[in-house]
Amino acid sequence: MSDPINQPSWKTLEALAAKNANQQMLDLFAADDARATRYSLAAAGVSLDYSKQRIDDDVRAALLSLADDQGVSEAREAMFAGRAINTSENRAAWHVALRAPHDAPMYDEVHEIRRAMAAFAEEVRSGSWRGFSGQPITDVLNIGIGGSDLGPRLICEALYEGNGPRPHFVANVDPADLDDTLAGLDPATTLVIVTSKSFGTAETLANARVARQWLVDAGAGEGDIAKHFVAVSTNAEAVSEFGIERMFGFWDWVGGRYSLWSAVGLSILLALGGEQFETLLAGAHTMDEHFRQAPLDENLPAMLALVGVWNNNFLGLKSHCVVPYAQRLASLPSFLQQLEMESNGKSVTREGKPATVSTVPTIWGSVGTNAQHAYFQMLHQGDLAVDMDFVLPLSGPKAAGDARERERIANCIAQAEALMCGRDSDALRSELEAQGLEGEALEHRLAARRFDGNRPSNMLVLETLDAHHVGALIAAYEHKVFVQGIIWNVNSFDQWGVELGKTMAGQIVSELGEDAPSATHDGSTAALVARVRRAWGR
Ligand code: F6P
Repeated sequence: MSDPINQPSWKTLEALAAKNANQQMLDLFAADDARATRYSLAAAGVSLDYSKQRIDDDVRAALLSLADDQGVSEAREAMFAGRAINTSENRAAWHVALRAPHDAPMYDEVHEIRRAMAAFAEEVRSGSWRGFSGQPITDVLNIGIGGSDLGPRLICEALYEGNGPRPHFVANVDPADLDDTLAGLDPATTLVIVTSKSFGTAETLANARVARQWLVDAGAGEGDIAKHFVAVSTNAEAVSEFGIERMFGFWDWVGGRYSLWSAVGLSILLALGGEQFETLLAGAHTMDEHFRQAPLDENLPAMLALVGVWNNNFLGLKSHCVVPYAQRLASLPSFLQQLEMESNGKSVTREGKPATVSTVPTIWGSVGTNAQHAYFQMLHQGDLAVDMDFVLPLSGPKAAGDARERERIANCIAQAEALMCGRDSDALRSELEAQGLEGEALEHRLAARRFDGNRPSNMLVLETLDAHHVGALIAAYEHKVFVQGIIWNVNSFDQWGVELGKTMAGQIVSELGEDAPSATHDGSTAALVARVRRAWGR
């Protein structure tokens, strides 16, 4: 492992960034008729067009050298082989094993649990699993947070078609989340899945306790709890201490944010059925095989990663906006926030030294076209430098006749074009002159309506919005994050940065209770604690 900043390829990239400081993407297109094709890749029904990036052949070659210098291919082999690449916790990060086909010799236990999940889901879906009043299950409530929530939530939102129990997700410890959800559910026909890798996450356990009481209040006896409560965890002891009999397990080598493919996906299986879950895994596996085998210059996840490195480390674009043009993918930006920022939001190297290069940018975004009417003004004319991923699922031929579908797709294509092309000021001047504007008024209007353009974006197109393509898309992003972690020389698979706040919250929780505050805080924190206590009459 090596500090990227010392690689000759890093220096080459710095020199290229300086040399190309004024490079215009439109000039790159003018000089190369085949640019759109030469800067596009496809795998598993997902395509990436990165031609609207400020990248030329020299930059691409230098980025590929950087990937070689940093040992991306070797690291990739280590990940697929299940080696302990999570060095700070001495664990593998082997999520690819979770979507290997049934005959793969990777890990018998994976398939054993998957079979148990499928059998359970079938019982519930067929109606043979009954609740305490003898009725079949109509609703499934997943209680979990972070990786125990975001992945299954995204998949269910993307793919649920009403063909199975309705999926619900509660993550927030704010009582409004669970209380509002329970208000719409019938305890007699609800199955609760408590999903927590550690089974020690305070928010999840607090919500699980309330949900359990809700069942008891509705008439479920102690013996009935098992009909309505299952757990997904790696911590069998804590699950049984909590009083849940049935647990679907997974392993410490499955990171929370990489876990939707494991038993954490139980809500997906229940809502969508076994076939859809298998298709999701198969889509991810197809992307895995592409990532594992394709040379880096033809490798979609690797190129996605390298484009991000170029923008972040060499063009100084520290803000990355993801806009899916599909209502069903509205949760993709939140999912990616955890995947990318919890994985690579680090400033220490794998050797425990301070990182010398900038790591993950801010990841944010929301669904298009809504986003256009919120912050696209800034993306087009603001001074914050942002690079973008547009995610565009195509739809079946029938949709060609739906005016809204044409709007959805046209808007996505147009926004990427506008960001790159900007507006030609000569044409605008003539337009305004034709409207009778002149002098200072004309100049003022011209300045306000000026779009410089040259703002970079990726376009990721999915052939259709279905289980296969969504699986492939998420796997592509997972591998992007992996490659960036290798290049930045950080461990993408730990998350020590979330620990301190958790410990402090535990302390403050007790200070908001009956007893007088005991900890020594800074003045601001002490005042806040005192203020809450006053509000509660303590
Ligand atoms: O707070 C961070 C985190 O540990 C995430 O990494 C994880 O996905 C989430 O909390 C939930 O953890 P658990 O599944 O153990 O409840």
